[in-house]
Amino acid sequence: MVFGGILAGGIGSRMNMADMPKQFLNLGDKPMVIHTLEKFLLCPKIEQIYVGVHPNWVVHMEDLVDKYINIRKECVHIIPGGGDRNSTIMNIVDAVERDYGESEEHYLITHDSVRPFVTSRILNDNVEAVRRHKVCDTVIPATDTIVVSEDGSMITDIPVRSKMYQGQTPQSFQVDLLKKLYAALNEEEKAVLTDACKIAVVQNEPVYLVKGEPSNLKVTTVSDYKVAQAMVGGKVVD
Ligand code: CTP
Repeated sequence: MVFGGILAGGIGSRMNMADMPKQFLNLGDKPMVIHTLEKFLLCPKIEQIYVGVHPNWVVHMEDLVDKYINIRKECVHIIPGGGDRNSTIMNIVDAVERDYGESEEHYLITHDSVRPFVTSRILNDNVEAVRRHKVCDTVIPATDTIVVSEDGSMITDIPVRSKMYQGQTPQSFQVDLLKKLYAALNEEEKAVLTDACKIAVVQNEPVYLVKGEPSNLKVTTVSDYKVAQAMVGGKVVD
């Protein structure tokens, strides 16, 4: 089966503009996480969708689903997220296996709740790629030159731009393989590997690239939020 895993367990500390995590702020007429969830619900290849939410916000998320979701509501499962992003992913893996058992044919399409402009094309390409390659990451070619600095004051390297990409989400995994790769990490590695695909890269597991879109932006800061509001044609909050 193919499962969606929407990551909504964060608290948005870098945004710090409201008394709620950024994924619950409105974009146009509905909360950001609802835009994201709707994109998944409109993709029939994604059969069941798990939303990992900070434990303090589970009831709020349940209320939002009741209020805004009219299609495939029975496919939405809200579960408590973990202390970091990868722990939220692993909580979703545990919930999938609790509900649907273990299988080599289980695939998980993980996605940031704060990337509400993901497209059906990106979701479908992830489903196809993860079935074929077991792990895939959504990326766009870097447009700016990437500059490396080890100490934050002097340049160490300027890699060839044509080989540089910016990582987006979804990041998709065969569930069995993800469990095996995550279990092989020690606690120190778990703490520093904030990117889920890096769990595979550091263990030499091939990761296939899926083409993303510049519009699949991540809302991290207040200025990203203003861009996202403009994209839905809503009133921009100062
Ligand atoms: N996320 C999650 N579980 C966590 C931490 C983050 O599911 N324990 C999710 C966030 O909700 C978000 C995505 O991962 O959708 C990307 O993370 P980020 O933008 O860093 O979100 P926050 O952790 O909320 O933001 P900040 O780092 O500013 O606190």
